[in-house]
Amino acid sequence: ENFSLGIDLGGTKIATCIIDNNGNIFARVEMPTLAKEGPEKVISRMKKSVYDVLSQINLSLNEIAGIGIGVPGPIDVEKGTIQNPPNLPGWKDIPLCSIMFREFNTKIIIENDANSAALGEFLFGAGKGVKNFIYITISTGIGAGIFIDGKLFKGIGRNAGEVGHMTINFEGPICGCTNSGCWEAYASGTALSRFAKEGILSGIKTKIIEKARNEEITAEHVFSAARKGDNFALTLVENEGYYLGVGLANLINIFNPGLIAIGGGLTQCWDMFYSKMMKTIKERSLPANLKHLEIVKAKLDKDAGAIGAASLAFL
Ligand code: BGC
Ligand code: NA
Ligand code: ZN
Repeated sequence: ENFSLGIDLGGTKIATCIIDNNGNIFARVEMPTLAKEGPEKVISRMKKSVYDVLSQINLSLNEIAGIGIGVPGPIDVEKGTIQNPPNLPGWKDIPLCSIMFREFNTKIIIENDANSAALGEFLFGAGKGVKNFIYITISTGIGAGIFIDGKLFKGIGRNAGEVGHMTINFEGPICGCTNSGCWEAYASGTALSRFAKEGILSGIKTKIIEKARNEEITAEHVFSAARKGDNFALTLVENEGYYLGVGLANLINIFNPGLIAIGGGLTQCWDMFYSKMMKTIKERSLPANLKHLEIVKAKLDKDAGAIGAASLAFL
């Protein structure tokens, strides 16, 4: 088969696409995850997204190599279960592979969402041909796919690369994983919206509230207020650059990568946090590890995860 189907299950969005073996997209759909509604409803939306992309190009299930699914970790790749992802509350040991197999009766593969996106970038995007490559996604959570000498590093239980849960501050804020002071609790989209809410509750004057109106405050509301010059929002975005830089410097010192590509929803305001992030990286990394390093925005944008997941079914 020359086509493959990929699903990227995010904390906020489900993105599904069909690609060929050069990574070209032939069909795509996107729908909200609405994670709060629980696994059953989310999985039925995932199923619908599969039928939707197939019908966009009149393809049947036996014309695709299989379905790859990128999901927030931790996962049990061998059993095909999602264990207890910090960013999908209420999910516990969900046998996603067998559920999807029962529905579609084709090859189903699950992989960590960040690993999937990393694979997409490594095969078809910013990381093409780079042997020591780290892809980072900054979205609801923070995840990574780490390539060492041209191979995705998986670890003994295939859950390596959980960089979002490295401790940045012993006594920092509580993370979705229940630990405290994780990188994700400082630099994810969830953290950014939490900082915004805390500031607002403490009485800081800001236009972020107007942006959000009656909705829950998100990272996007912070960005759009920052673009309008709102002082508090600008401070939050500056801090975002700082927190990102601190965590990235840790990774740079450990892995000495040739390239880091950063993707995920928060790269929407790449231009606004870039200089603070780079300044912090330069201050905190060992100079020797900066020598050959390049840091770029990921190339495949919001499709990296679905493309990478789809490519799994070709392997
Ligand atoms: C999870 C990772 C995931 C990342 C991005 C983190 O909370 O632990 O597995 O890659 O969020 O979704
Ligand atoms: Na990962
Ligand atoms: Zn954590």
